[in-house]
Amino acid sequence: MTDAVIDEIDGRMIRIGDHWLADFASCNYLGFDLDREILASVPEYLERWGTHPSWSRLLGSPVLYEQIEERLAELLGAEDSLILPTITLIHGSVIPVLARDGSVFIDSRAHKTIYDASRLAAANGATVTRFRHSDPDDLERLLAQDGSTNRLICMDGVNSMTGNAPDLRAFARIAREHDALLYLDDAHGFGVIGERGENEPCPYGLSGNSIVRHFDESYDHIVLVSGFSKSYSSLAAFIACSSNLRRILKTAAPPYLYSGPCPVASLATVLAGMDVNAERGDAIRADLWRKTEQVLACLNQIGARTPNVSGFPIVEVPLARHEDIDAVGRFLFENGIYVTLAAYPLVPKDEVGVRIQVTAANTQAEIDALVDVLGRLATQFELQPIGQEKRDGQEELAA
Ligand SMILES: Cc1ncc(COP(=O)(O)O)c(C=O)c1O
Repeated sequence: MTDAVIDEIDGRMIRIGDHWLADFASCNYLGFDLDREILASVPEYLERWGTHPSWSRLLGSPVLYEQIEERLAELLGAEDSLILPTITLIHGSVIPVLARDGSVFIDSRAHKTIYDASRLAAANGATVTRFRHSDPDDLERLLAQDGSTNRLICMDGVNSMTGNAPDLRAFARIAREHDALLYLDDAHGFGVIGERGENEPCPYGLSGNSIVRHFDESYDHIVLVSGFSKSYSSLAAFIACSSNLRRILKTAAPPYLYSGPCPVASLATVLAGMDVNAERGDAIRADLWRKTEQVLACLNQIGARTPNVSGFPIVEVPLARHEDIDAVGRFLFENGIYVTLAAYPLVPKDEVGVRIQVTAANTQAEIDALVDVLGRLATQFELQPIGQEKRDGQEELAA
């Protein structure tokens, strides 16, 4: 279940050797990787632009970038945006710039790429402190003790393991009150969750315009980072920020000058994905929500705990005995289900388990198969029972 070579795909079915499995490890939440309209849009862009611009952005950016940035800022309701190839590159280059020699407060469950970037910030003179996961009180306590004049708070939006979002209103309020900048990585929320509205077809909200809009917050003291490589199935990432910060980052963030650009096919699929999102996105999200609900209902029925309280399409199922993980992986593989295994020491022992990611491209038959296999898994292995909830923020802050 790790480092697999996928020989072939057929929709969300994948073939590894002679074994076909239903894929529940993909982050292509909206199924844009397989959308006929998006696929058909690519050749025309390749005819016009070739396969790859190969200028660094400071040398020259195909107008496609500008088109995406404008549409993106409008979609997000942000003042401006800047595209770079990956979130990893953005974190590594932008966090040290924003941190300067001030204080960085990092959620203890922030994504590894944020941690790595905070190390670079520390090497440049910043002081890095962790706060308890999703715990605004702990953050506020640390900020109250901090004497620096430049403060940066780094955390995930929709968490890549629990599938839950932080209490953004509380964190935004704290950032403003302490004149800190809240730097959010919503890799998994963008495209899935969005602004709330009376006519929303599902609780994910409308338009998939990410966590800030989902919580009806403004971008005051907030920088939003996310990417197109999950919901939009394209290699590109963005930072939503003020026009002034965008201007500064063009020279201060090294990848704008020193890194290669996004492939033309990816810029094309972002633009086509934006069209599809506007036309059909809310219906796709309603379908994704319904499928995710079926998985959550199954876990509820078999009495298995999941940290997911949001209904978002990332569903982790922790095991009662972490030693079972290899056998559980084999069982799922043999029964045609492909998921992400979260093994110790990548996660603490009491969180070892499997992560299921639902996408709109999973067929009903695949969801039914997953539900059936989870039911049988629960008869052969001990899953953590409902009622053993661990509150967000309860984990150790050990190094
Ligand atoms: C929360 C989060 N941040 C960042 C990344 C890295 O994104 P990229 O591949 O664009 O560098 C991931 C990738 O899985 C992620 O889940």
